[in-house]
Amino acid sequence: MKNADYLTGITTSGTPHLGNYVGAIRPAVETSKNNTLVSYYFLADYHSLIKNHDPSLRKQSALEIAAAWIALGLDYDNCVFYRQSDIPEILELTWILTSLTAKGLMNRAHAYKAAVAQNEGEEQNDPDKGIAMGLFSYPILMAADILMFNARKVPVGKDQVQHLEMTRDIAARFNHIYKKLFILPEVVVDETSAVLSGLDGRKMSKSYHNYIPLFDTQKQLRKLIMKIQTNSLGPDEPKDPETCTLFSIYKAFASQTETQKMADRYRQGISWGTMKQELFEYIDDILKEPRQRYVELIKNPSDIDAILKKGAIKAREFSVPFLEKIRKTIGIQSLG
Ligand code: TRP
Repeated sequence: MKNADYLTGITTSGTPHLGNYVGAIRPAVETSKNNTLVSYYFLADYHSLIKNHDPSLRKQSALEIAAAWIALGLDYDNCVFYRQSDIPEILELTWILTSLTAKGLMNRAHAYKAAVAQNEGEEQNDPDKGIAMGLFSYPILMAADILMFNARKVPVGKDQVQHLEMTRDIAARFNHIYKKLFILPEVVVDETSAVLSGLDGRKMSKSYHNYIPLFDTQKQLRKLIMKIQTNSLGPDEPKDPETCTLFSIYKAFASQTETQKMADRYRQGISWGTMKQELFEYIDDILKEPRQRYVELIKNPSDIDAILKKGAIKAREFSVPFLEKIRKTIGIQSLG
């Protein structure tokens, strides 16, 4: 197996939603089919340990996310699709990297800093309250995910850009201290892939509880779309597409021509009821077939296990010998 041209991880917490689809799944599915590229996609189940302490939720989320990616057309034979926890080499590399990562670098991580800032605003004023070492060193685990496969490009959301900078710092430090083994990965923030708005108009996200799950029933999908907040303009009044959540969701799925036409209908005055119904029909049409595949897959978790195990075998064709090389480089080797 070759090193990764593209690599990205998906934390296994929560249920896959429409925002995940347009932001991460859809572009990854496209890349997975490209047979001139080696792309790695994995379920970051060790990352999910930090926030979620419920074993059954973690397992359920891994099942749902894997099923969603497969149902939406991931070409798992052409790419490398696996669970992080099936690759023990990643954890070994995590410790090796932890040993040379500056604590000061981790102090600067946004997620950690935000947690400390929140604590400091509270009465007891204990900056460490509720902060696990896992949260603190999360960027090192992420660096190990990436460096284990010497990935060249890492597509992520904007919130992950800092982690990629840290990964490059860590890789450079290893290369400097020992030997140049690691490629410094490039971050790819796809500006064209859409950031979806959720039910309340803020970014669709599991932390805001404003998301539309990808594979709820058709009835539930319709119900949620009907709930999306709009303003109080009457049925025939002209409306502004650019500030409308319904329109932004439509735009993330429709072609340019369709989007243009819809924008014109907004300016002429389309009623919210009509728009919601059309948006529902449009999305439902796209999700109908994947939804059927998803339902079947969820019923057969052992098929998903088998796909992931095959992926892990492919991934380890790279990670096992590469870790061996890393161990030798740092002097963890036979004594002879
Ligand atoms: N931290 C990423 C997120 O929350 C998920 C992730 C874990 C990841 N390991 C990775 C992304 C390695 C890219 C590469 O979105």
